[in-house]
Amino acid sequence: MCGIIGYTGREQALPLILGGLERLEYRGYDSAGVAILEKDKLIVEKKAGKIRELVKDLWGKPYKGKAGIGHTRWATHGEPSEDNAHPHTDEKGEIAVVHNGIVENFVELKRRLETHGIKFKSDTDTEVIAHLIALNYKGDLLSAVLSAVKELKGAFAFAVISSKEPMRIIGVKLGSPLVVGIGKEENFLASDIPAILPYTRHIITLSDGEIADITPEGVNLYDFNGNPITKEISLVPWDIISAEKAGFKHFMLKEIYEQPKSVGDTIRGLVSSEEILPFHLKDFRRVLIIACGTSYHAGLVGKFWIEKYTSVPTEVIYASEFRYSDIPVGEKDLIIAISQSGETIDTKFAVNFARDKGAKTLAIVNVVGSSIDRESDFTLHTHAGPEIGVAATKTFTAQLAALYFLAIQNTPREDKLLQDLIGTPSLMEKVLEKAEDIENISEKYLKKRNFLYLGRYLSYPIALEGALKLKEISYIHAEGYPAGEMKHGPIALIDEAMPVVIIAPKDRVYEKTLSNLAEVKTRKGKVIGVGFSEDNHLKDLCESYLEIPAVVEDLSPFLTVIPLQLLAYYIASKLGLDVDQPRNLAKTVTVE
Ligand code: AGP
Repeated sequence: MCGIIGYTGREQALPLILGGLERLEYRGYDSAGVAILEKDKLIVEKKAGKIRELVKDLWGKPYKGKAGIGHTRWATHGEPSEDNAHPHTDEKGEIAVVHNGIVENFVELKRRLETHGIKFKSDTDTEVIAHLIALNYKGDLLSAVLSAVKELKGAFAFAVISSKEPMRIIGVKLGSPLVVGIGKEENFLASDIPAILPYTRHIITLSDGEIADITPEGVNLYDFNGNPITKEISLVPWDIISAEKAGFKHFMLKEIYEQPKSVGDTIRGLVSSEEILPFHLKDFRRVLIIACGTSYHAGLVGKFWIEKYTSVPTEVIYASEFRYSDIPVGEKDLIIAISQSGETIDTKFAVNFARDKGAKTLAIVNVVGSSIDRESDFTLHTHAGPEIGVAATKTFTAQLAALYFLAIQNTPREDKLLQDLIGTPSLMEKVLEKAEDIENISEKYLKKRNFLYLGRYLSYPIALEGALKLKEISYIHAEGYPAGEMKHGPIALIDEAMPVVIIAPKDRVYEKTLSNLAEVKTRKGKVIGVGFSEDNHLKDLCESYLEIPAVVEDLSPFLTVIPLQLLAYYIASKLGLDVDQPRNLAKTVTVE
């Protein structure tokens, strides 16, 4: 998954493009590059490594051009190198392209282009786009793009600029996100809103099969057949402050602390929303929750709540598995697709697959206008605001709020349950007050190479989520496991070198979890406990204790996840790792 940006207008393009790329860097950071229109020539500069390597290279270069495109890469085809960095150009260097996604038929296209005598300079799929446009260019860039697009298969968003038609940039959207920013005598293209938020809040979100043709004077939109279309310009509610670090060392820490607010905003958004779902979960034979990563863990929590309050059988399935299984799906099923970005291609394709089978689809997304939002029958929006840290935190607890809100609809005790939910943010604040204790505790575990996270019932998905947080930002191996299952194998791993995190709020499985804790301790395991502040019995059994205030059984996941987010954050931060942009990761995975 990559980040692309384009600018054409009255200002110098380079600083705007580099600034935008820095705000897109969470989408991928193997390499970066720009193409700037300098008088009548396209200047292409690119560099392996993070944006700052490119910025250093470009420092002081007198590029004054007022149109250009930029790219930050998460490699799919072709290793992260300068040659494979975008932009890619045609042979004459008159057309440059930056691309996010995958051209699935690029091998066959590359072969065909090579029979035209075209010499490729990279191993990427993207380069075929530049050559195809050049091959089809007969004096009009839009026509050449329209012809080229007809031959591309896959999911992609790309921007193209040409020295033959200065100040004109064309953006194409199919499967990967692309927005148009509307300015005053200037216009933008970007993969994501934060990239251009400092310059404009007037945005057009392109849908699949749409093209934007931008110049400083204006924006024209077309479908893939070249028919003009019109779309609404929306005013983005986020301001740049909410997308900056606000004094925190990392976006991730800021976003962990934002959780009481983002959960509160999500609850308020859902309660006040006119988007009343025209159905009840009980109208369906079965609920299938489809998601990836952290969103999948939110789904596992949601399953317990949905089955508890509606008795509708609920399954949670990895999106990447769903489409390739033979699970019977039909119109009596409700598919709940959970995705903070709303662009995860595995989840997006799963939604398309389910809809083709006649199932109703409900999206729970954080980005309004995202692909999954638009391609689902219904949507519940979380209101967590932009989440820049690659590791999901506030979007996770916002997803929990949406799932709980959904599960308790039309239940006999809905008002009481909703009041409990509304009271959760203040309890989350109390957990955050213990952050310094957790920071001190983290010091003890910096050298550990393996962790086990255990939980039962609602704490089992939190064990999985806590393990994922540690893995993805500290690169320390961690495994989440059902506490009751530990004795059926993983108990062989237990020794004094293996920290075992055990999540044990006082709920229906508390006693059973304590038995599992005893099994760990008799094998000299070191226990990091997560439990109620006043649970001295549990505290005395643990080497380290991460405390939460007492909370009703249902809502413990909102609280138990926070100490685990903080533990992972402080370990990774103290190891000096790049917490906001961990290696190999990207914020949104728009490739299968
Ligand atoms: C979460 O910390 C990870 N970055 C990753 O597992 C993420 O949850 C997953 O890629 C799903 O993303 P989505 O919610 O945007 O679909």
